[in-house]
Amino acid sequence: MNYRHAYHAGNFADVLKHMVLVALIDALKQKASPFCYIDTHAGGGRYDLQGNEARKTAEADEGFGILKTASGLPPLLWKYLEIVRACNEGSDTLRYYPGSPWIAAHLMRQTDSAQMVDLRNDESSALRQLFHHDKRIHVHERDGYEAMKAFVPPKEKRGLVLIDPPFEAQEAEFRLIEKTLKAALEKWPTGVYAVWYPIKLRSHVQPFHRWLTKCGARRVLVAELLLRPDDSPLRLNGTGIAIVNAPWKLDDALRDSLKLLPKLLGTAGQSEYRLTWLVEEGKDEDVAHAPQSPRSVRRR
Ligand SMILES: C[S@@+](CC[C@H](N)C(=O)[O-])C[C@H]1O[C@@H](n2cnc3c(N)ncnc32)[C@H](O)[C@@H]1O
Repeated sequence: MNYRHAYHAGNFADVLKHMVLVALIDALKQKASPFCYIDTHAGGGRYDLQGNEARKTAEADEGFGILKTASGLPPLLWKYLEIVRACNEGSDTLRYYPGSPWIAAHLMRQTDSAQMVDLRNDESSALRQLFHHDKRIHVHERDGYEAMKAFVPPKEKRGLVLIDPPFEAQEAEFRLIEKTLKAALEKWPTGVYAVWYPIKLRSHVQPFHRWLTKCGARRVLVAELLLRPDDSPLRLNGTGIAIVNAPWKLDDALRDSLKLLPKLLGTAGQSEYRLTWLVEEGKDEDVAHAPQSPRSVRRR
């Protein structure tokens, strides 16, 4: 377990993941009843972009660093940037980058609650320190997959699980996610589950997508950002997030912002986005007309 998110905070994969997280929490807040947010691989919650780790890789320069100077952003990306600004308490230098726990906590209401889990002692201690004053948030130092099975269904009976593992062994991580999601869906079939994944070789991702089409959920949406063709196992070519039981019209909420990311963060002619319903309730007819592929949008 060598992975430290401080080396990668604010990179292009974080931009996609955190933008989708904002849209998901906004969707949950459409209803007045409380929800529970479960972060199975939460990280430290907030990262110093001037710290040694972040400066060593400078990954944020190619992600959030580009966005922060962009103008004319669609509302969702604008809101995401406002959240990063809030994490810096109004300072213009934007030294700190919020992790998923910070973003969720910032958007949650007083009645909502959260379970934040990380197996590393340093990350869970950082989380505890960050949220020691916040009674809505419970921090756990334990295995995220075991915690997820234990925490669902939450007492609120509605909510979101973010599954954001380090993917140190890529194909094995996908199999572990499938096994845990299967168990969680049996206990809580109506929960929203968002799974982040890296894209190096497309053939590594395809079996997971095939599994998702058969997982029993009524709606599965996939949003991907590819900076380069997905044909090399040696580098991070793109990133995706699969949303099981995606809220109604989540695709519409994401589209304009997702569409802009290849243009802002990528290279013309190489970069693209995908917004794909792997399973879409009430869309059997579409599938019947186009059995070879799910309904998807791919654009450069
Ligand atoms: C990609 S980072 C999380 C980033 C965070 N979700 C965010 O968006 O800000 C993955 C985290 O998973 C933690 N981790 C690794 N194996 C784990 C496990 N089995 N259970 C829980 N956490 C684990 C690592 O310590 C690391 O902090």
